[in-house]
Amino acid sequence: MIDARIRLDAAATTGLHPEAREEMLACLEPEFGNPSSLYREGRRAKDAIDTARERLAVALDSLFAENLFTSSGTEAANLALVGTALAHEGSRRRVLMSAIEHHAVLHTRGLLERLGFTVEVIPVDAQGLVRLDALEASLDENVLLVSVMHANNEIGTIQPVREVARLTERWGTLLHVDAVQTFLGDPEATGGWAAGDLGADLISISAHKIHGPKGVGALWVRAGTPIAPLLSGGGQEREMRAGTENVAAIAGFGAAIGVQIKSVRSREAQRRGARDAFLKELALATRPWEATLQTQTPCLSGHAHIRFPGLSAESMLIVLDRLRVSASSGAACSSGSLEPSHVLLACGWTEEQAREGLRFTFDDTIGEELAREGARRVIKAADQVGR
Ligand SMILES: Cc1ncc(COP(=O)(O)O)c(C=O)c1O
Repeated sequence: MIDARIRLDAAATTGLHPEAREEMLACLEPEFGNPSSLYREGRRAKDAIDTARERLAVALDSLFAENLFTSSGTEAANLALVGTALAHEGSRRRVLMSAIEHHAVLHTRGLLERLGFTVEVIPVDAQGLVRLDALEASLDENVLLVSVMHANNEIGTIQPVREVARLTERWGTLLHVDAVQTFLGDPEATGGWAAGDLGADLISISAHKIHGPKGVGALWVRAGTPIAPLLSGGGQEREMRAGTENVAAIAGFGAAIGVQIKSVRSREAQRRGARDAFLKELALATRPWEATLQTQTPCLSGHAHIRFPGLSAESMLIVLDRLRVSASSGAACSSGSLEPSHVLLACGWTEEQAREGLRFTFDDTIGEELAREGARRVIKAADQVGR
């Protein structure tokens, strides 16, 4: 009998790797220089940032100078969309984004519109796959940028980004890919996360999904892509992101990349094994449930999105918390009531169905036995909620 709390919410965040923690502490004391200072402590801080940038450049198979550190995946996505819009002086005034983008992308809409751009949302099919026919029909010489995420954080659908890139290339349109959920993930399922694999011009990533610290992300910008900074001030990050760098967080991010890149395949096999063991155990439930994605839909290896018809996800999460299981629903809490997930609505779910969606995501700390115990607790929760 396993008594521990079981965290099945790796897509929300992951724990800090000990090597990342160690590199962070080394940047906090006794060294605490400002990377812009020319004396020894400053040079050391700058070296820590450069080491991290080099690791990131290698991971993305990109040039050192193409990688900018930001405060988060959210800031990276904002910089990609708003920064390219600010830098553009020509006649391209349209921006396209898929309906299931993260809010870090979708919510740039207001700002883009105030800058004089028209934002159009490209629909997805029932599995959350971006409708390539709709994208193709919407593209023309007036589209500045298309934003399509590599994999969806909620239901785990992996998008055909290479095909999206083929379409955008035809029109000379920029492509931003939010790769927060796929960076250093399963290269077989996703087709890889390197800049060349994605065919994008801009790629957003975040440290805390790969056992790095929270509050640090990065934007890869293909050399030569016109982009303007969102922050004014000092000349940090090649004048693209003013403000004294969060040296410890960046160093921790670099350390996490260094650790994770060595074990991509074994880690992903473990995540898939845990997810599959969880679903197999869940199949023993007497109460019916449905997996959101069909088995042939390309999906993240550590992701299971399911629905217990008739059971509210909110009630399930409360009971699961009591049963020591952390999971999530895609619903956002605004003014005390749960808003149904925009992702599920875009996939054609009704509001009622969308309030029944639950996400269970597995990192490499969850073994198969723990995953099975997690499923037994989910079954118990469903029995309690459905009573
Ligand atoms: C797909 C996706 N994009 C962007 C973000 C935002 O990243 P951050 O939490 O670093 O701001 C997240 C975080 O959950 C995400 O899952």
